[in-house]
Amino acid sequence: MSHASSPLFHVIYISHAVAPMSPAVLVALLEKYRTFNHSVGITGALFYHDGYFLQVIEGEEAAIRGLYAKIQRDQLHRTVTTLFEEPIQKREFSKWSMAFRNLDLDASGAPEGFEEIFNMDPSQIELKRYPSKVRAFLAEMCGL
Ligand SMILES: Cc1cc2nc3c(=O)[nH]c(=O)nc-3n(C[C@H](O)[C@H](O)[C@H](O)COP(=O)(O)O)c2cc1C
Repeated sequence: MSHASSPLFHVIYISHAVAPMSPAVLVALLEKYRTFNHSVGITGALFYHDGYFLQVIEGEEAAIRGLYAKIQRDQLHRTVTTLFEEPIQKREFSKWSMAFRNLDLDASGAPEGFEEIFNMDPSQIELKRYPSKVRAFLAEMCGL
């Protein structure tokens, strides 16, 4: 190896869109997000359902902290609630500048435990139980 790679880090959060977002608007935003993410080596996944976001962003810690600070200030959503913010051994979404799934468009319906994750008032989240539900959700959605 010619150089040591910087440690990897990820953030997983949920938030509420300020207004419902149309599929076309989401796709247009995604295009911008991916261009930026690609330029700074950020990968991840974004899920949207009924006005709720769940996002995973992963990459070098400084890049992730920088993007997350911007995301937390973004006026498109509110109640940004951090679920995980920690070093990781490897990327889970290395192939995607930002994978995207609009669950409102899924004909197959929501996976097990799904409504529980998204339709929860963040102030009511029991943080001890919640992360394991999110991990189960990501495992089911992405085969993680
Ligand atoms: C749910 C959600 C997810 C976002 N994800 C990303 C992302 O993955 N990459 C990105 O560059 N911006 C993302 N943004 C947009 C940022 O909040 C911010 O608008 C963007 O980085 C541009 O910021 P700037 O104009 O200050 O550079 C996201 C915004 C929202 C609401």
